[in-house]
Amino acid sequence: MSERYAVIGHPVAHSKSPWIHAEFARATGQDIEYGRIEAPLDGLRRAIEEFREAGGRGLNVTLPFKQEAFRYCREPSERARVAQAVNTLTFREAVFGDNTDGIGLVRDLAQNLHFDLRSCRALLMGAGGAAQGVVGALREAGVAQLVIANRTAEKAQALAARFPGARGCGYDGLGGESFGLIINATSAGLLEAAPPLPASAFGRAALAYDMVYGRDTPFLVAARAAGARACDGLGMLVEQAAESFFVWRGVRPQTAPILRKLRGG
Ligand code: ATR
Repeated sequence: MSERYAVIGHPVAHSKSPWIHAEFARATGQDIEYGRIEAPLDGLRRAIEEFREAGGRGLNVTLPFKQEAFRYCREPSERARVAQAVNTLTFREAVFGDNTDGIGLVRDLAQNLHFDLRSCRALLMGAGGAAQGVVGALREAGVAQLVIANRTAEKAQALAARFPGARGCGYDGLGGESFGLIINATSAGLLEAAPPLPASAFGRAALAYDMVYGRDTPFLVAARAAGARACDGLGMLVEQAAESFFVWRGVRPQTAPILRKLRGG
């Protein structure tokens, strides 16, 4: 019988994870089934336990449950501890929690977009769950300098304080600084307006990356107008899925063919 996995969230109807994991399974010859579970906002724990009791082997956790999943799991990995959020649960004798979002972002930047993280000055916008999930991986990838900017400056400062060498501020604290990489990790990607970033923030040949995918966000439009290369978060989605697949199955699927298909190529 196929081993069972699923994505759990609220909502999850739009999730591309079932399709992505089915493609990975086909390409690697792994016999898995991957579904979706919409848990009530106050019912994560129960939904996880039902799935586990029915023989489920692992779950991807998406919004708004990643922090709660971190508190739920018994054995968080180092990267889950740093992110204080879990997007990958594995059921063995205990419940293991991992976070593959940060490595997913870094792999998309480094491998798919051929961006050299080690020599760059990076600006991360946002200090909520999405931002917190990727700071550790960006630091580990060796970004030369990391500034975290947020509407509420204190939250950016508090997040930056956990990572030696990082600096946190409000958008007005950026002055005339410019960056080679600007990542939008605010939920503003989903709104009408881009975060209030001066055009001077986009350095020469800057890469602007929005973690949101599937649409041209106001941030990406502004970035392009400022001469930057603009990329959405579809590659991060595929890369974090591939890392989860590896955590569960010990097999690393190729991501380029899936990303091409998703982009309609
Ligand atoms: P997520 O888990 O998606 O990160 P979150 O934890 O609610 O969601 O965080 C939302 C982030 O988007 C925060 O950094 C928030 O800024 P504040 O901390 O000041 O609230 C940011 N954000 C939301 N709406 C925004 C807007 N209109 N302009 C700028 N930043 C915004």
